[in-house]
Amino acid sequence: MGEKILYKVKIRTEQKTYPVLLGKKVLNNVGRIISSYLPACRTLLVSDKNVAAHYGEMCMESLRKRGFQPFLEVLEGGEKEKSLATASALYSSALEAGLDRSAIIIALGGGVIGDLAGFVAATYLRGVPCVQLPTTLLAMVDSSVGGKVAVNHPLGKNLIGAFYQPALVVADQSTLITLPEREFNAGLSELIKYGIIRDKTLFEKLELSLFAGKNFSPKKYFLESNSTRLLKYIIRAVIIKGEIVSQDEREKDLRRILNFGHTFGHALEAGTGFRYYLHGEAVACGMAMAARLAVLLGILEPPFGQRIIALLKRLHVPPPPGGLNLNDVTEALFYDKKKEGDGLVFILPTALGQTTAFKAPPAPLIERVIEEYLDGGLL
Ligand code: NAD
Ligand code: GLY
Repeated sequence: MGEKILYKVKIRTEQKTYPVLLGKKVLNNVGRIISSYLPACRTLLVSDKNVAAHYGEMCMESLRKRGFQPFLEVLEGGEKEKSLATASALYSSALEAGLDRSAIIIALGGGVIGDLAGFVAATYLRGVPCVQLPTTLLAMVDSSVGGKVAVNHPLGKNLIGAFYQPALVVADQSTLITLPEREFNAGLSELIKYGIIRDKTLFEKLELSLFAGKNFSPKKYFLESNSTRLLKYIIRAVIIKGEIVSQDEREKDLRRILNFGHTFGHALEAGTGFRYYLHGEAVACGMAMAARLAVLLGILEPPFGQRIIALLKRLHVPPPPGGLNLNDVTEALFYDKKKEGDGLVFILPTALGQTTAFKAPPAPLIERVIEEYLDGGLL
């Protein structure tokens, strides 16, 4: 497996400027790539069992070849790993492996491993460099870039964390071949998000791609060819995220647009105990609900709302679970941490590629949208 393509996007933030390298079949050269940016050192490579089974040894070997002394920590994986208990176990592994301040921590996996290992890197010995090697589509287009690192607290998701930018991100599109199709579609949802909030052309290209055939599998369409189409979309997403983060690293204002779909989405996740939806699926439902709310409020023309929902339907998100009711979702909405004062703030589309932060939409409209979704009439 030789290195095929490597594109570089520079992310500039107040904290750090760093490259995101994107390509196909590059992971087997990750030691060489990292050594062009960071000196060889002791390294904790954190992964989960699914990812490590495919790519763990490949990365270890590549790192060793370039003089790194890597130690592999393979976790069970899943959202429950984003805990202070697992972080503490990783601190112990790092200490036992003799990692000092010259060491680096590498995250090999999806957003769970990236957020957790990033949090450990931010806090171990007051901070050591972190390298992100995202292996899910969601992590490539979103979580590996921008420096949000966190673990969960029993009272809520991502409540203990930091803004800690990585030193380097290396995304290998070829790793998506082993990603389960459902996870692939969940990542596509975050890719569509960038089109809706910031880039009409990206949205329209995704429309062309995702309506390319009947009985359609996006994963097969994008990966079973030599096309660089998906890689170009991923790069576009990273560029957009970089532009946003460089203007508002700590989410005081502009960065909130990245939470488009997350207010409803988070309520669906919380209302189902975080066990029913994948994160990207809940975001897809949340985006469809936000588009519908924008139409009902009269700030989005209905044909745009219909196009957004039609595109999201191509992701085959599971239907709302039978037991979920309006009360569960509205209760969960009010725990949303993006709440300002007493009113909820929704990021809503006003056109393809444009959004507004809408404060306190009328409760009856919010409830109508939730009911339409729960009745299966939306997505
Ligand atoms: P994940 O990390 O749980 O990965 C999904 C599943 O796919 C896991 O079972 C994993 O083992 C498997 N997997 C990953 N890569 C694979 C590959 N290439 N081949 C085979 N299997 C593979 O989930 P995710 O969707 O990547 O991330 C979700 C997490 O990301 C959530 O915790 C969410 O809060 C966080 N997140 C963070 C940010 C941020 O800005 N930091 C943004 C969005 C989401
Ligand atoms: N994923 C949202 C953000 O990075 O701000």
